[in-house]
Order: sequence, then C-alpha cells, then structure tokens
Amino acid sequence: CEDGQVLCVCVSVILLILSILFIVPDDLTPEEKQELENIRRRKQELLEDIQRLKDEIAEVTNEIENLGSTEERKNMQRNKQVAMGRKKFNMDPKKGIQFLIENDLLKNTCEDIAQFLYKGEGLNKTAIGDYLGERDEFNIQVLHAFVELHEFTDLNLVQALRQFLWSFRLPGEAQKIDRMMEAFAQRYCQCNPGVFQSTDTCYVLSFAIIMLNTSLHNPNVKDKPSAERFISMNRGINDGGDLPEELLRNLYESIKNEPFKIPEDDGNDLTHTFFNPDREGWLLKLGGRVKTWKRRWFILTDNCLYYFEYTTDKEPRGIIPLENLSIREVDDSKKPNCFELFIPDNKDQVIKACKTEADGRVVEGNHTFYRISAPTTEEKEEWISSIKAAISRDPFYEMLAARKKKASSMKRP
Ligand SMILES: *[C@@H]1O[C@H](CO)[C@@H](O)[C@H](O)[C@H]1NC(C)=O
Ligand SMILES: *[C@@H]1O[C@H](CO)[C@@H](O)[C@H](O)[C@H]1NC(C)=O
Ligand SMILES: *[C@@H]1O[C@H](CO)[C@@H](O)[C@H](O)[C@H]1NC(C)=O
Ligand SMILES: *[C@@H]1O[C@H](CO)[C@@H](O)[C@H](O)[C@H]1NC(C)=O
Repeated sequence: CEDGQVLCVCVSVILLILSILFIVPDDLTPEEKQELENIRRRKQELLEDIQRLKDEIAEVTNEIENLGSTEERKNMQRNKQVAMGRKKFNMDPKKGIQFLIENDLLKNTCEDIAQFLYKGEGLNKTAIGDYLGERDEFNIQVLHAFVELHEFTDLNLVQALRQFLWSFRLPGEAQKIDRMMEAFAQRYCQCNPGVFQSTDTCYVLSFAIIMLNTSLHNPNVKDKPSAERFISMNRGINDGGDLPEELLRNLYESIKNEPFKIPEDDGNDLTHTFFNPDREGWLLKLGGRVKTWKRRWFILTDNCLYYFEYTTDKEPRGIIPLENLSIREVDDSKKPNCFELFIPDNKDQVIKACKTEADGRVVEGNHTFYRISAPTTEEKEEWISSIKAAISRDPFYEMLAARKKKASSMKRP
C-alpha cells in the first residue's frame, strides 16, 4: 500500500530528528527548551495523525475486502443460476429461457436469446434446434437473429452449411427444416450478393448438397452420383439459368472429400428425413378378406411397399402406396412382432392398393388395414422406422419440389 510506505518514511525521518534531539544534553537555553517542547508536541500530533491514517486505511481495506466478497458471492450465485438455466433449457428449452429471463440472467429480446443460443455454452444442440424450430412468432424472430449472427461472407455454400449445421441439430420435421433453411438461404445471399439469382436457388442447392452428402457417404445408399450427375441434376435452378459448372464441381468435391458433421450424430442422422434406405425381407401378411397369414417377400422403395410370392418373381403380388397411410405397432394373439398400416381417422375406408389375383387379373386391394408380422423384434423396429421415414419424407419432397419449380422459373421474359 503506497500510503503505508509514505507514512513509514515520514515516521523514520521524524524519529531520526527526534533521536538527534534527545541525545542533546540538559543544558539548553530557554528558547531551545521551548523549541524542544514544540517538537515533542508536534511529534505527538504526528503520531496521532499517523494512527488516524492507519485506522482509515484499515477501514478502507476492510471495506474493499467486504465489497469483493459480496460481489463474489453474487457472482457465484449468478453462475449457479445460469448453470441451472442451462440444465432446464436442455430438458425443456422454453422453460429454460423463461427461467433465465425471470431471474434477470437473460434479456427478453430475440437478439439476446439468439446470442445465448449462438454461444451455446453448455447447451444441448438438439434442444437449440427444437427451440429455433418452433412455429411461434417470437421463436421465428429468434431464429432470424440467430442466423444473422452467422458470418458467411466469402464462404462457399458448403463451408457456410458446415458452419450452420454444426451450430445446432436440425430437427426432423419438414416444416421446421423448411423455416430454418429458408432463413439460412436468406442470410447466405445477404452475405454473398450476386452468387445466386434468388434465395430459392440457394435453398434448393443447399438441399441438393445435403442429399449429396447422404448419397456419397451413407453406406445404405448404393447409388453414388458422379460430379457430372450432380451438375446435371442442378440444371436450370438459377432463375431458369444454370449455375457455373466450376462452382457446382467445387461444392461436389468438398462434400466428397469430407462429409458434413452434425452435432450429436447418433446414427439417426438426416438420412431418415431425406432418404429411406430401401429395405427388403420376408414378412407375414394377414389377408384382407380371408384372414390367413401368408409369407411374402416385401420390398420398400419409391414410397411404396411391394410384396412378392418368391424373391425371384418379376411381378409383385401386390403394391401398397404409402401416401396418406400411418403405421403403428399392434399386438396380435396369433403372431409376434406385428405392425399395421392404416388410414388415420378413418376406420372403414379401404386403402388404395392393388394386387394380382391367381388368374393374373390386377384388382384393387380390399384392406382397411394391413397387418404384418416380422420374424424378430429388431426387424419389426427396422421396418417401422423405414416405413415411417418413407411416409414422413413426403411433405418434405413436395415442399422441395415447389421450391425447385420457383427457382427454375424464369423471372425475366
Ligand atoms: C441432447 O438431447 C437429446 C434429446 O433429449 C439426447 O438424445 C442427447 O443425448 C443429448 N445430448 C447430450 C450431449 O447430452
Ligand atoms: C452427412 O453424411 C454423414 C455420413 O453418412 C452423416 O453422418 C451426416 O449426418 C450427414 N450430414 C447431414 C447434414 O446430413
Ligand atoms: C392422399 O390424400 C390426398 C388428399 O386427401 C388425395 O388427393 C390423394 O389422392 C390421396 N392419395 C392416396 C394414394 O390415397
Ligand atoms: C371386399 O370385401 C367386401 C366385403 O368383405 C366384398 O363385398 C367385396 O366384394 C370385396 N372386394 C374385392 C375387390 O374383393
């Protein structure tokens, strides 16, 4: 403490003077005695001053220390609450945000919340994706503020997508994905004006790239497109014109060399949202009119379930389009591992499907539901998840098709 040092020097100087004075013998003149008296008084005053200063310094130091510890205590309390808020957020994002706002740990503005999610410290990226995907007007504003925090200037589309898709986990629902990718495309075009004719072009190409990632890197997808095919698949999406081949080739190579990473990749990646890896195998099917179980070779492809009598048959015995159907697990008293295809909210309606009669005639099916039994629990679960994916990707495909149409339509005459 500087004050302390100054005091010490003063005191030593005074003591030195005094010690000189004290060794002076008694035979002093009255003036000298008076002077000595003055000096002694002065010394006393100085000592008192010093004591007062020391007390003051002690007091101030004490105050500073106390101030520090209450501040620290407050900080610790705050950190604890933030940690609690994060935990709550990971369990229920809306409640977590509400908790943080109520405790003055977060301002109730979309910018502040977006910042909190963008920093993402201690937050589960699935939970961030859920929060950003909500349809609420406020959540949509937060989504936009969140996307604005991403800097995509001078990044190519693959680099920007890598950054974006790593910042949260894209939810599975088509509508949510649509909103998020729309916001992404807007931001990318804002950061890189002139690269694409429209946001729709950027949007459509982003999906083409995400799907390319799956085609190239998912072992279940057998058909690996070449760069040429990727280029030709994306013809005409730039407001009716083509994107530069060079650009498409670079994007292709980038994905080919390194797949997209997504947070918390538990194997259940976006593949199920965009692709349903074709599945085939033996299953038992319950008859529509005559309730007997028949062993059939099933193939899931093109959003349809085909069944054959023998694996080598060229023509299927039946075709069940999955459009408008739902799937559920059921218990059957006769067979294990059962599931059912049915029309939601409509018990008696016959499912649109066809089958080939023994005499070769193709007739409409006569099922209000299809009950199917798998050989094992695992196979049942795999079939259910593949069929579910095939059913749920449909709205997504429609959405993308509409967007593609928009991006391909010439705006200029
Ligand atoms: C994040 O949350 C999801 C869904 O609740 C969970 O499956 C996942 O394991 C969590 N991730 C981490 C790293 O805790
Ligand atoms: C890209 O492909 C890899 C490998 O299949 C997969 O793990 C990852 O989730 C995919 N990324 C996206 C965004 O689909
Ligand atoms: C599915 O539902 C839509 C709308 O109700 C209808 O137009 C379409 O024909 C249905 N498709 C099938 C295969 O039943
Ligand atoms: C479907 O079943 C109903 C009642 O079981 C029967 O009347 C009808 O003829 C059947 N239709 C076909 C195409 O087999």
